[in-house]
Amino acid sequence: MTFLQCYDILKFASGTAYKTYKDEGYILSKTWTVKEILDWTRDYFKGAGVERSRLEAEQLLAYTLEIDRIQLYMDPDRPLDEKELDNFRPLVKERKSGQPLQYITGQVSFMGLSLKVDERVLIPRPETEEMTEEILGEFRDNEGVKVLDLGTGSGAIAIALARFLVEPTISAVDKSPEALELAKENAQLNNLEKEIDFKQSDWFSEVTGNYDVIVSNPPYVPSSKLKELKPKIKYHEPQEALDGGDEGLQEIKNILNQVEDFLSPDGTVFLEIGHDQGEDVKDYAAAQNLQDVRLIEDSRGKDRILCGSKEA
Ligand SMILES: C[S@@+](CC[C@H](N)C(=O)[O-])C[C@H]1O[C@@H](n2cnc3c(N)ncnc32)[C@H](O)[C@@H]1O
Repeated sequence: MTFLQCYDILKFASGTAYKTYKDEGYILSKTWTVKEILDWTRDYFKGAGVERSRLEAEQLLAYTLEIDRIQLYMDPDRPLDEKELDNFRPLVKERKSGQPLQYITGQVSFMGLSLKVDERVLIPRPETEEMTEEILGEFRDNEGVKVLDLGTGSGAIAIALARFLVEPTISAVDKSPEALELAKENAQLNNLEKEIDFKQSDWFSEVTGNYDVIVSNPPYVPSSKLKELKPKIKYHEPQEALDGGDEGLQEIKNILNQVEDFLSPDGTVFLEIGHDQGEDVKDYAAAQNLQDVRLIEDSRGKDRILCGSKEA
């Protein structure tokens, strides 16, 4: 790397004005292109231990430039102006300091739907998309399915089921009023606010009626393991969305203790669980009188969904 390249990098990272660089009379005034800034950011993220450093650099730059990621490749030599660099720089710093990308951009895609996310809610995960797909696989053709989403967070599961099931009735609860606020916004964003009944509830405390499908991605991280989570999770995502108490099973058991009372005859519960909790959760569900209790693997071959039904 030449001295001037080093200097450019320092200038970008420190955020000191570009103008200074020019004013100082250097002949080779530096213009950053899309490709150069992506390479630089990838290396900077890599050095800071950010996983998927290239992808995240691209997502952040595309977000800053308000374009799709693919467009970065269509015009790699496009120069960035000062305003664009000024907008990009603080985002790079935030990501480097551990803030999850999705909270910086404030958006995430879930089952192809666009959702807002911030520190009020857990960032929806691919495993949760897989559980939602599993439900759709079983119920896609049934009309008027009654669904209850427990611990809705951003509203991801409820909103996706409202979009893809045929005329369903969807209720969604969370004990966090802040999460519910955002879930309602997300329903609105997807024109589904009339399709989902949101309510604040400590699991079933405010729930009435019976449901064909009860789904939840409850907190299931053992309290003792919270401190081992990656910083971007541990310091940014809401603790109450993660902490599953002793062995991570407390909230799963709280749900299973009552779920049968709220299932319709032949209704089914779907619970996302930790990859090493399958056998314990299966035994517990069977002891709560659920029938046909089974574990479903995720795409990585881990037991990640507990499924059980109420007797017909
Ligand atoms: C792991 S997050 C899941 C969020 C969302 N369903 C998803 O899959 O992305 C768990 C959610 O459960 C909520 N929660 C935790 N304890 C609860 C309780 N006792 N009653 C209702 N909701 C609860 C949290 O506020 C959080 O939004």
